[in-house]
Amino acid sequence: MPNDQKYTPPNEMPPAKFHRVLVGQKALITGASKGLGQAMALGLARAGAEVLINYNTDQEGARHTLKEIENNGGKAAIFKADVAREQEVKAMFEFMIERFGRLHICIPNSALQLNAKVDQMTLAQWQRVIDVNLTGVFLCSREAIRIFRKQGIDRSISYACGKIIMISSVHDVIPWEGHANYAAAKGGLTLFMKSLAQEVSHLRIRVNAISPGAIRTPMNVEKLTSPEIFDRILLKLIPYKRIGEGDDVARAAVWLASDESDYVQGTTIYVDGGMTLYPGFIGAG
Ligand code: BGC
Repeated sequence: MPNDQKYTPPNEMPPAKFHRVLVGQKALITGASKGLGQAMALGLARAGAEVLINYNTDQEGARHTLKEIENNGGKAAIFKADVAREQEVKAMFEFMIERFGRLHICIPNSALQLNAKVDQMTLAQWQRVIDVNLTGVFLCSREAIRIFRKQGIDRSISYACGKIIMISSVHDVIPWEGHANYAAAKGGLTLFMKSLAQEVSHLRIRVNAISPGAIRTPMNVEKLTSPEIFDRILLKLIPYKRIGEGDDVARAAVWLASDESDYVQGTTIYVDGGMTLYPGFIGAG
């Protein structure tokens, strides 16, 4: 779609304020070169965390994230890795410790869409989406848990031994035709998250998820061509009647990463303007 055909819905939100609830904490965020990962990296840094920015293909985007953090007086570094590759993930967590000494917050966020109807879908499209969106989360969570266990709890930094925040989607509960690989990965993520939370709770490792709805990311805004399409297609699905901003998700991530949410375990926060409220039933049923 040519650029001049894009429509950008207005941003109704004032700039987010991030309270410094993460000072002293070190965070690793995958897919932080754009979209939600970038917004969360900036938000966590503004809340005081030092951040490792992971990217796989978009080096320029990762540099932009780094520059923005540094311009705000924060500390960050960049590491390139494909989260679907075991050795690259291991190398990334080794770098994290070499560079920052510790890991307190892990946000496996990387995800992609390779859309097709099931009868048209290639095995490669199925596999890559499962590899990045689900196996990538497993690989990152496994390394994070290993490091958290080794480190133990340092109460001067956080009550928890470590925090994992998986970035899922409303499509972990809403079926999505034409995107069955994506929905299957996200649905799988929910029970991976809960099973892992059950497994590591006694270590005081917190594992939760955020499921965003339609947020202003490149993935979404590229689909919009006019205010009419925005109203007719996207807003119809959003009872709260605005597109979500990266900061909406970043604020939830900061809260989940902080001790403010210390008793929150094994749950999913839907940041979706009500998209999961079956909006089709408004005035119907
Ligand atoms: C997808 C978006 C989509 C949203 C709601 C997200 O997981 O990445 O492209 O708009 O779900 O359908």
